[in-house]
Amino acid sequence: MAVFSVIFLLTFFRQTLAGQACNDNRSEHGFALVDHVYNSFSADRLSTCYIACNMQPACQSSNYNLADKICQFNNDTKHFRPKYFVEKANSVYADNPDSGKLFVQLKKKKTLLKLVVIIVISSLAIQ
Ligand SMILES: *[C@@H]1O[C@H](CO)[C@@H](O)[C@H](O)[C@H]1NC(C)=O
Ligand SMILES: *[C@@H]1O[C@H](CO)[C@@H](O)[C@H](O)[C@H]1NC(C)=O
Repeated sequence: MAVFSVIFLLTFFRQTLAGQACNDNRSEHGFALVDHVYNSFSADRLSTCYIACNMQPACQSSNYNLADKICQFNNDTKHFRPKYFVEKANSVYADNPDSGKLFVQLKKKKTLLKLVVIIVISSLAIQ
């Protein structure tokens, strides 16, 4: 029984985190942040560009051109540079979720983790 509740809670935990990432609305089709590009290279896929940006602490956001398959790293985000956030066909803009909001993200995950630990421990104690 305890095993089942642990499995259930882990599944719940994973779904909640995944849902959080999806709802965050981090990528925007048809937009780009201009004049803040510090690196650009060709990338086969949008996901390659997004992941590459996420692995670089300096990369605040990325623009991916679907037509040219060019990935651009920006040193800033649309939140801080709204004037430079422009409509651009074939472009997908995405924030690096690890930049700036990192602490907020960590806090959220920690709280969730604590909650799960408490529930698991209490369900084990009931046995
Ligand atoms: C998500 O993106 C859509 C389209 O860009 C926008 O209209 C909507 O306001 C965004 N939602 C949030 C919560 O940012
Ligand atoms: C970001 O990049 C732009 C263009 O390359 C540059 O002019 C600007 O000084 C850079 N900003 C920072 C904070 O590095």
